[in-house]
Amino acid sequence: MNNSPETPVTVIGLGLMGQALASAFLKAGHPTIVWNRTSSKADQLVAEGARLAPTVDDALKAGSLTIICVTDYPAMQELLGASDIELDGRTLINLTSGDSAQAREAARWAEQRGARYLDGAIMAIPSTIGTTEAVILHSGPQSDFEAHKSTVDALGTVTYLGADHGLASLYDVAGLAMMWSVLNAWLQGTALLRTAGVDAATYAPFARQIAAGVAEWLPGYAKQIDSGSFPAEVSALKTDARAMAHLIEESEAVGVNAELPKLIKAMADRSIAAGHGGEQYPVLIEEFGKPRND
Ligand SMILES: NC(=O)c1ccc[n+]([C@@H]2O[C@H](COP(=O)([O-])OP(=O)(O)OC[C@H]3O[C@@H](n4cnc5c(N)ncnc54)[C@H](OP(=O)(O)O)[C@@H]3O)[C@@H](O)[C@H]2O)c1
Repeated sequence: MNNSPETPVTVIGLGLMGQALASAFLKAGHPTIVWNRTSSKADQLVAEGARLAPTVDDALKAGSLTIICVTDYPAMQELLGASDIELDGRTLINLTSGDSAQAREAARWAEQRGARYLDGAIMAIPSTIGTTEAVILHSGPQSDFEAHKSTVDALGTVTYLGADHGLASLYDVAGLAMMWSVLNAWLQGTALLRTAGVDAATYAPFARQIAAGVAEWLPGYAKQIDSGSFPAEVSALKTDARAMAHLIEESEAVGVNAELPKLIKAMADRSIAAGHGGEQYPVLIEEFGKPRND
């Protein structure tokens, strides 16, 4: 497939993110066709050289590649479900955020209509789109990704994860879990230190160093998880659980919220009760990997 800068691209959905996507395609030299429910959001892009399609069908017909970026999957289904256009041979890349089941369902829906479908997730904010800082994840048939990679490269660091359409969404939410966990841990520590008059800015560089140090453990801990063997090379879970108790006691003593450390300690206690106290921390994957039953 010819993906030179002359390759036309359609962008449907011109919210904050869709406008940034269309703008990046324009800057890379692609003829860019846009459509949005509220057409005034296309004004700036049209001034920059985009063509506003009068209807969704016209937008879809304009070229072989369409990027969709709307609020959520129901909005996408509402929008495209109302279109009668023949999608045979066209490629849809859906960069709308959602969960893996929605992504797989959207893939089935698109494929039943003859479209090639890739699901994507944007791990970036609009201002970084078009720079290497913007990571855009894709999942679905590799050949479809390869066919359009040189076009979507205009958006940032474009990554292919695998054939399962749900993977981009799964990586997306896994990233959110990481982000919020790191931030929550930092907020817990900051709340504790503020009781002694230490401000957030003083603690931040110290916390950053700890986060970077812990990040170094991940490859070795991942090997333990993948092999299902958790020898206590550094410390045993029962030792960590005692430290968790200190964190809870300190939080309660100085009047800081102890909900989060209590939650983690409850998981560690269940794992210890199941006989894993002498193993290393990643053994907790067994608690994370199942719903709580009690
Ligand atoms: N903004 C970010 O930093 C960011 C980062 C990563 C991922 N994302 C994801 O990107 C997607 C878009 O986010 P955004 O920031 O661009 O949101 P936004 O500014 O709120 O824009 C939402 C877009 O969806 C359209 N839309 C909503 N419901 C629709 C419907 N029923 N029919 C047709 N169009 C509909 C809106 O059209 P109207 O203009 O007519 O309302 C608008 O174009 C979301 O899934 C978001 O999670 C955003």
